[in-house]
Amino acid sequence: MSDATTFYLTTPIYYVNATPHLGHAYTTIVADAMVRYRRLAGDNVWFLTGTDEHGDNIARAAASAGVSPQAYADRISGVFREAWKGLGITNDDFIRTTEPRHTTVVQAILQKLRDAGEIYLGTYGGHYCFGCERFYTEKEIVGGKCPDHQTPFTWIEEENYFFKMSKYQGWLIEHIERQPDFIRPERYRNEILGFLREPLQDLSISRPRTRLEWGIPLPFDDTYVTYVWFDALINYVSALGGPGDPRFETYWPHVQHLIAKDILKPHAVYWPCMLKAAGLPIYRHLDVHAYWTVDGRKMSKSIGNVVEPSAFTGKYGNDAFRYFVMREMVFGLDADFSEKAFVGRLNADLANDLGNLVSRATTLIVNFVGGLVPAPPSFAAFGTDVPDALEKARGEVAAAMEEFAFQRALAALWEFVGAVNRYVDTSQPWALAKDSTQRAMLDGVLYTLAEALRCLGVLLAPFLPDAAAKIRAALGQTGEPKLADAEWGRLAAGTRVQKLSGLFPRIDERASGATRTSSTPPAVQAGRAAPVTIAEFGRLDLRVAEILAAEPVPKSRKLLKLTVSLGAEQRTLVAGIAEHYAPADLVGKKVVVVANLEPATIMGVESNGMVLAGTAEGTLAVLTLDRDLPPGSKVR
Ligand code: MSP
Repeated sequence: MSDATTFYLTTPIYYVNATPHLGHAYTTIVADAMVRYRRLAGDNVWFLTGTDEHGDNIARAAASAGVSPQAYADRISGVFREAWKGLGITNDDFIRTTEPRHTTVVQAILQKLRDAGEIYLGTYGGHYCFGCERFYTEKEIVGGKCPDHQTPFTWIEEENYFFKMSKYQGWLIEHIERQPDFIRPERYRNEILGFLREPLQDLSISRPRTRLEWGIPLPFDDTYVTYVWFDALINYVSALGGPGDPRFETYWPHVQHLIAKDILKPHAVYWPCMLKAAGLPIYRHLDVHAYWTVDGRKMSKSIGNVVEPSAFTGKYGNDAFRYFVMREMVFGLDADFSEKAFVGRLNADLANDLGNLVSRATTLIVNFVGGLVPAPPSFAAFGTDVPDALEKARGEVAAAMEEFAFQRALAALWEFVGAVNRYVDTSQPWALAKDSTQRAMLDGVLYTLAEALRCLGVLLAPFLPDAAAKIRAALGQTGEPKLADAEWGRLAAGTRVQKLSGLFPRIDERASGATRTSSTPPAVQAGRAAPVTIAEFGRLDLRVAEILAAEPVPKSRKLLKLTVSLGAEQRTLVAGIAEHYAPADLVGKKVVVVANLEPATIMGVESNGMVLAGTAEGTLAVLTLDRDLPPGSKVR
């Protein structure tokens, strides 16, 4: 297998102190779509997921459930495994950090680092809660008291082993700078480079067993167990059998890690330093997505809004759930989940656009030519843009998948679905069928429809595996599809087509609990935009942004490139305001931006948001605030 065609993808290993929810499911689903795509393209793929089972939190959860940590981990790990099976996830392996194959590799790496002088005994000081029996980080401490016990913290110091992470700071910065796509999308790379501007500390990698028993003993001092992150990160290596194992040698050089922004630091800082110190190759890419909220709020047990995938897949099917989460979230930006939005997309994109197309096209072929695909027409004379639309979609899907831009891949495929739907409307095969002189034309149209569906059956396979398989079966296609099959003109004349209707049944939105009355927006009336529901408006993330820098976009009369602060993060935006503002007049202004707009590259500059402005008769004015608010403030 040549280098270019080997691909190893990992998800985070999930903690077993909670059962799988929308967040875990999203990461695992996009990983699954990615590996299915790569397998379709003929790559040699290894796909790993699993569970993270050691540490304080798990030990505490087990204690409150009245069972041993191992029994507790066995149970919840099983729940994850079953959930992924139910969702049709095609992982090649499932690692658990309590497995001997993992602990052996962790201990071997620890010993190697200790022998190499990378680990030393030092003193660790922190804020300790005796009620919780654990240290709290600075970030967790609000108001100086333990949130659970309402008691003040005690500063305690204890001896611990440290990994000499600080010495890798310079190397890591250089590595990230030399390899611009090491951490993607760019905002997360910038976040880490920002973090690395401060001195990097050594990492405490042990916990005394007197405090915590539930972990992997240090091989060189069994009065300590390994810090849970140091243990967990190594799963990506141990699951391949560790250095020297043929599986490790095959896949490790091609590893990419997929995570959400919550665990960026351990993956982007600790892990590369650990690999470097252990003399192992550094991973290729870290692909980072953002967070799901539910009905506009953080998902949390105490609010009671945790979305369990099975509640939706049971009701609407796996493919609908996969489609919604991949189409709705712009990879890298936060997104909101609501049943209303879910049902809206299901009805509009899946039932109307795709489902209707499949049902219309297969019915026309069965009714007008007895279900036998006619001979392909001579396309030069025939004149349809469907093959070109397919070519475009294929190219866009390939480019989007390179960047983990699942939403763009699906948008491109739906452009194609739209083009084929329009083709049915304009070519009117039902009218051609009435006129015997139009027989050749009718054959050409029906061939085009059959071929478009066949190609969709291939291209949709990574995203909607069940629906794609049904489409391929209806088009008489057997065997495993390959990406190259989605090339126009491969469908053989005489192939038998069967009617396929009800691929995605329409959901009655009132019955579903999603109360929006119509998924198709009312027509725009003269001069007045269609009404927008509160929920639709709520999907816009409007924020106060402070303009930090402004400069013209080269070769453009209209565009300015703006660097803005949203409080916690900086963004680059492109705004079409150069004819109305000098760059210098904008710096320091507080404006309003749409923060969750799909990123777009405009004249070579990636824009991550939109500045709001009003216009009238040639005058343009950006929206500013009439009272000061900090950047990042929400605008409603
Ligand atoms: N065990 C660690 C990871 C160790 S990896 C060596 C851990 N586990 S976790 O159970 O908390 O899972 C975190 C991951 O779950 C996130 O990185 C993301 O993949 C997923 N998500 C959890 N909540 C999420 C959202 N609300 N939104 C999107 N994904 C989120 O951290």
